[in-house]
Amino acid sequence: MLINGKPYRTIWFEKNIVKIIDQTKLPHQFIVKDLRTVKESINAIKTMEVRGAPLIGATAAYGLVLSILEKNDQSFLRESSDGLIASRPTAINLKWAVDRMMKKLSGVNSNEILTVALEEAKIITEEDVNFCKNIGLNGLKIIEDLARRKKDTVNILTHCNAGWLATIDWGTATSPIYHAHQKGIKVHIWVDETRPRNQGANLTSYELNEEGISNTIIADNTGGILMQRGQVDMCIVGSDRTLSTGDVCNKIGTYLKALAARDNNVPFYVAVPSSTIDWKIKDFKEIPIEERDPKELSHIEGLDNDNKLQKLLIYPKKSKALNLAFDVTPAKLVTGLITEKGVCEASEDGLKGLLK
Ligand code: MRU
Repeated sequence: MLINGKPYRTIWFEKNIVKIIDQTKLPHQFIVKDLRTVKESINAIKTMEVRGAPLIGATAAYGLVLSILEKNDQSFLRESSDGLIASRPTAINLKWAVDRMMKKLSGVNSNEILTVALEEAKIITEEDVNFCKNIGLNGLKIIEDLARRKKDTVNILTHCNAGWLATIDWGTATSPIYHAHQKGIKVHIWVDETRPRNQGANLTSYELNEEGISNTIIADNTGGILMQRGQVDMCIVGSDRTLSTGDVCNKIGTYLKALAARDNNVPFYVAVPSSTIDWKIKDFKEIPIEERDPKELSHIEGLDNDNKLQKLLIYPKKSKALNLAFDVTPAKLVTGLITEKGVCEASEDGLKGLLK
């Protein structure tokens, strides 16, 4: 998608270097960063220079390519894959991509392993672009129906950033929005700020602005009253791990948005590629929920009057904080899952019917 009118992807490979957009500097600074080692790839995932389930997966795949470039050695490759998988616990795409790469590389001789690894990392990347594009086309029909019935601007609420910055291109939750906009359908997006790291304000609103799509940032607790007032026609969010039961794990706060949507009969859709389905875990309480540094809550970063990025303490010095990064929305609160293969009910039958 576009930044300053120029098309970008979130990750690309150039002369044995992985290039990423450093998302910790957005929206105030646009910095393309080089990753030259698997250690730098692990750090980029941990510090959230790259984030969003599909992009984390692609970064891990390229991380294994860098591992082979550093040292073409099986034990180093295994060490690298363990290190990548351990970088963040919740988004299933990370383990999905590493397992897929390691399966592809198993038994490949050292002369060919770099070529095979790079090829598979590129396939994973291109596949994700197509998954997201098709999620967009499948979700577009839902927006078109709403526009036809409403004969006015369709107001869509989204939480966190499940945009192209969280994938490679198009995004998951944003892809139907981009397709609708490109088709001339009038849309307006309520963008949850998404504390504590503000992925909604810093990344989703930024993306939508760059594509010329009308949007308004709201505090995370505002969605409920907007729904009561009939100012939200549908919600669409992404997912870090959707179980085959239809239970959806996504950014903290998604569950509360789904409860408000149900209470106000607002359709609540989840855009999810097949790479984000966990076919193993059946009980959502077993999903590893990431707990991050409380300083992400107690401190906030922004531009000072001299246009310099500053970090400020906003909590009482003596107070302690808990920073859980994800929660789970039970399937019963989900209107439908928008996948690259179509839209289905959030259930085992629904998902198996479409993806198996
Ligand atoms: O902590 P983050 O920024 O990696 O969390 C991202 C999300 O929760 C997204 O909604 C999810 O990864 C889907 S991205 C298409």
